[in-house]
Amino acid sequence: MNHNNQDLFNKLHFDGFVLFPIDNKNELVNYCINEIKNVSEEKIKEGFYLDRDAAVGKEGLAADLKPSVFEYDQNLEKFYTEIGVVDFLEEFQNFKSSIATLQLRGAYDGSSYLSWHRDTHYYSNAKEPSGNVPPIFKSIFYPNLHGNSSRPTLHVSNGSHLRYFKNKNVDLIVPRTPFFKKTKVFESNDYVLVFNTSILHAVLPVSGPPIFRMIAAFKSPQSKN
Ligand SMILES: [Fe+2]
Repeated sequence: MNHNNQDLFNKLHFDGFVLFPIDNKNELVNYCINEIKNVSEEKIKEGFYLDRDAAVGKEGLAADLKPSVFEYDQNLEKFYTEIGVVDFLEEFQNFKSSIATLQLRGAYDGSSYLSWHRDTHYYSNAKEPSGNVPPIFKSIFYPNLHGNSSRPTLHVSNGSHLRYFKNKNVDLIVPRTPFFKKTKVFESNDYVLVFNTSILHAVLPVSGPPIFRMIAAFKSPQSKN
């Protein structure tokens, strides 16, 4: 096992996320950045569109490429294999995963479209758990499309996937306090975020041109399909 990966495995386990380094000189990486840039400028292939109603969170502040990112360009799915995230997760989980869902989403100028939350959670009074149980891994690429100084785009609460409060209000107040470490993830062509869906995270407000992100959700060993 490569020593570098061991450090990243430790981070992924204990922090719940890792900034996985990628080669920004790679041809496919550059191709994908360009493809995402075109979508962000609404230069979109026929038969596809940005749907402002489809994205989660506050209305109108985010839009998803529809009807299918897989069909829009197969290179976007290949990106995750090319940069090594698929192999990295295979080594971490001892399971060869594949992408279950792939989204291309723009977050537009204004307040955050989504505040602190866990994609996977189960609060008291809830009838059922929400999100994937057990949690899955997602990988998000926030390319810097404009060559501007990188803007922060996501806040994550380090290690929060390993500490829960069953009470939703308490659980969501914790990351707003100074008692636990938080990390800001920036737009970058040098890394992708890989995270456990139990982690507390919040989308930061955008100012200026939209921040586009490509979000891959990986199948877990327990997935039925
Ligand atoms: Fe989320």
